[in-house]
Amino acid sequence: MGNFRFPAMLLLSIFVGSFLVASAGDFHQEFDLTWGDQRAQIVNGGKLLTLTLDKASGSGFRSKREYLFGRIDMQIKLVAGNSAGTVTAFYLSSEGPNHDEIDFEFLGNLSGDPYIVHTNVYCQGKGDREQQFYLWFDPTKNFHTYSIVWNQQRIIFLVDNIPIRVFNNEESFGVPFPKNQPMRMYSSLWDADGWATRGGLVKTDWSKAPFKAYYQNFNANACTWSNGKSDCASQMLNSARNNVWQTQALDASGRRRLRWVQRYFMVYNYCADLKRFPQGRPRECRHSRFL
Ligand SMILES: *[C@@H]1O[C@H](CO)[C@@H](O)[C@H](O)[C@H]1NC(C)=O
Repeated sequence: MGNFRFPAMLLLSIFVGSFLVASAGDFHQEFDLTWGDQRAQIVNGGKLLTLTLDKASGSGFRSKREYLFGRIDMQIKLVAGNSAGTVTAFYLSSEGPNHDEIDFEFLGNLSGDPYIVHTNVYCQGKGDREQQFYLWFDPTKNFHTYSIVWNQQRIIFLVDNIPIRVFNNEESFGVPFPKNQPMRMYSSLWDADGWATRGGLVKTDWSKAPFKAYYQNFNANACTWSNGKSDCASQMLNSARNNVWQTQALDASGRRRLRWVQRYFMVYNYCADLKRFPQGRPRECRHSRFL
């Protein structure tokens, strides 16, 4: 028995090993620390990244690569304890005045009070598409996976692989959709106590500083953009990688989970904010099956 098992395990580990190298990112290779000096740090041989916020400054990083469509996953452990007033952002964004952006923002809270996950989609410089959610777990105890699936047909926001929001491509109804501007992944931790916690009522308690957020296991299964073209044009690369994300949609179980999140955890939905849009709700709200 032992004689058979060893080579099988060896083969398996070679196979799994080469896969990991191909897809899992070393933070040193994937990111530039862009803000906050020593407050942003890559440690553990590139496996862990930490952001810090103190009274003088926050901190942030961004991907070296630009992407045009893809699936981006990051595991994050949010600021623990009294995180009121702090915001940890994790988003994709293009550059320039009419930029596109796909946002996760985690709004801190007093110890024991729930974080809010704030999401938004900007297209050609215009956002105003906020949806907010509570989480079904304490995001400061462990790492959880936050993902953005961005393909030609839709954008899906996922938390631990559970869809919390879908933004469909409704260009046929005249709603712009981000599809021409490559985006980088950004993340930052900063002070936003003017609005973050209970709309700005609860301020940052600087006696609790420094505040810290942790990142690991970044994965980009994405089309990389460089020198004006996408590497997804290359057939050879395409057949070698996992392209499920390119046509990813919600199946029956995804729809059920999305409805569960919307029913029990949704805090705010711009599509349901009739006071805000007296002239009528935005077009995409009228057409989507899911608000
Ligand atoms: C913070 O906790 C309060 C009280 O439970 C809640 O109303 C609020 O939505 C929570 N989150 C934020 C970010 O304000």
